[in-house]
Amino acid sequence: MNQLTPPPKIEIIPSSAPFSEAQRSWLNGFFAGLLSEGPTPLSAEQGAVVLQGPDADDGEAPWHDQTLPIADRMKLAEGRPLRRRMMAAMAQQDCGQCGYNCNDYSDAIAGKAEPRLNLCVPGGKETARMLKALNEELEKAPAASLAPAVAVPAIPAEPGRSRDHPAPATFLSRRLLNGSGSEKETWHIDFDLSGCGLDYVVGDSFGIFASNDLGHVDQIIALLGASHTTKVRSKTLREVLHHDCSLAPAPDSLFELLSFITGGAQREKARALAQGEDPDGDAATLDVMAALQKFSGVRPHPEAFVEALEPLQPRLYSISSSHNATPGKLALTVDCVRYVVGKRKRLGLASTFLAERIQPGDQVKVYVQKAHGFALPQDPRTPIIMIGPGTGIAPFRAFLLDRKATGAPGKNWLFFGHQHSSCDFFYADELNAMKISGLLTRMSLAWSRDGDKKFYVQDRMREVGRELWTWLAEGANVYVCGDAKRMAKDVERALVDIVAQFGARSTDEAVLFVGELKKQGRFQQDVY
Ligand SMILES: Cc1cc2nc3c(=O)[nH]c(=O)nc-3n(C[C@H](O)[C@H](O)[C@H](O)COP(=O)(O)OP(=O)(O)OC[C@H]3O[C@@H](n4cnc5c(N)ncnc54)[C@H](O)[C@@H]3O)c2cc1C
Ligand SMILES: NC(=O)c1ccc[n+]([C@@H]2O[C@H](COP(=O)([O-])OP(=O)(O)OC[C@H]3O[C@@H](n4cnc5c(N)ncnc54)[C@H](OP(=O)(O)O)[C@@H]3O)[C@@H](O)[C@H]2O)c1
Repeated sequence: MNQLTPPPKIEIIPSSAPFSEAQRSWLNGFFAGLLSEGPTPLSAEQGAVVLQGPDADDGEAPWHDQTLPIADRMKLAEGRPLRRRMMAAMAQQDCGQCGYNCNDYSDAIAGKAEPRLNLCVPGGKETARMLKALNEELEKAPAASLAPAVAVPAIPAEPGRSRDHPAPATFLSRRLLNGSGSEKETWHIDFDLSGCGLDYVVGDSFGIFASNDLGHVDQIIALLGASHTTKVRSKTLREVLHHDCSLAPAPDSLFELLSFITGGAQREKARALAQGEDPDGDAATLDVMAALQKFSGVRPHPEAFVEALEPLQPRLYSISSSHNATPGKLALTVDCVRYVVGKRKRLGLASTFLAERIQPGDQVKVYVQKAHGFALPQDPRTPIIMIGPGTGIAPFRAFLLDRKATGAPGKNWLFFGHQHSSCDFFYADELNAMKISGLLTRMSLAWSRDGDKKFYVQDRMREVGRELWTWLAEGANVYVCGDAKRMAKDVERALVDIVAQFGARSTDEAVLFVGELKKQGRFQQDVY
């Protein structure tokens, strides 16, 4: 018979390290576990994050609300440890574009495992500026005062599983989803994944590395007074601007560069813009080209110019197909961003790339961004209520196709809405067929511009509140996808009102009820 002996006490953290006895003991246990046989060890960088020890933060994040302006979020985080203030600087969408959620991205920066401060796309320049200031605080702080007690999840190294390791997918086709007379331009996009062997589950998003419009690149080269073939970073200037640099919001570093190479009032103006001021009231409209035009005649050297630009970031799209239904294929539902400022047409980078620049057969660098907390229920019998106006339909088309392919018996209720019933009813034939077949138990539609007054999905929800409450009481999961800034909040408010009215609760109790649904994973959002 084996004699059971207590494991030897392992001392990895020296007693001189800046930790309390309890912290030291916890860390010793943690690293002992890591060194024994077991799950994949953390990388050195992740170890470094963990090593900084616990802090006294309560873990609450009252600023985690995408509708709050950054100033309010920072106020709510006042007095908190640096990593928490860094989290408050993020746009709070947990959208995954940075490759993390808001909490993990800030922990990774605070733990010095992530040097890039410009990855929060929805936070834009405001977030990047705030992170830069907080990072300066981090650099100056004595090591012992920093204390994030957290391990950041590993970034998958397998090709196509993270923004840092993309894989090539083949673009197959595009099809316009709007009928004539629509004010929108939304495309159904198909990719073939068989070449790269990627798969996904419904709820995941797809990251796309798009390239800039060449006409736009050429106009910028002309403004620089440079030649296409000028060599920069061992490529031509044209190639670098086409594939590697963001030409959208002019970064502070570009204004800094412009201020260095000019003088007088121009210099003052460029310096003010570099500091986030808005001397002429046009700062929000200044993309890279508009900045060059504003400081016309100031011609940075192509090398310095490229150095001052931000790298081109990938864009995420909710996957609108099911791998179980169509293995090796992937679909997206993409609203094309085009708008005019002054006399110039502006193009959204990735949406217009998918809508017009890429051709069938072309390869694109892509990755699957795993969803965190946005998935079909594990029990296929669980009823689901899906609320997705506009492109918010994307993951719900995927959910329905998946439930059909797997024969999931749960009831399905879709709320879809858009501007006009005649031309903006995406996937109408498919959805109507699903309704007839019984897969789609209920479909509730809301057309915002068909009548005299706006009518939205949440208005339809209120109309059928009693039935909605019955589904909830039966254990249904609720899902919301689409606009983060207004729609998601309004839909949540409608849900609270429905719970209060039909669930016989006060508003406060209804808020708690919806909060509880969130905690249980029964209310999930994919908003952007
Ligand atoms: C998890 C997730 C899922 C997503 N799923 C989808 C999806 O299924 N379908 C979809 O279409 N999109 C989806 N998006 C949004 C998508 O990632 C892109 O943000 C969107 O396509 C725009 O990217 P772009 O590169 O075309 O435009 P960009 O080059 O990023 O330009 C967009 C920017 O242009 C500016 N802008 C836009 N319109 C105007 C205007 N009228 N006036 C002034 N400025 C303006 C704004 O600053 C805006 O941020 C999703 C985002 C996330 C995070
Ligand atoms: N980052 C980007 O550049 C980018 C790119 C694409 C989309 N988006 C955003 O992502 C969202 C999705 O765009 P989309 O093309 O799918 O459609 P959308 O613009 O969200 O419109 C879809 C439907 O939702 C309605 N709607 C507007 N405000 C609402 C509210 N508060 N509550 C409920 N419904 C509301 C719209 O009505 P009305 O329009 O008639 O008011 C329309 O009928 C949009 O908010 C858009 O701004 C951003």
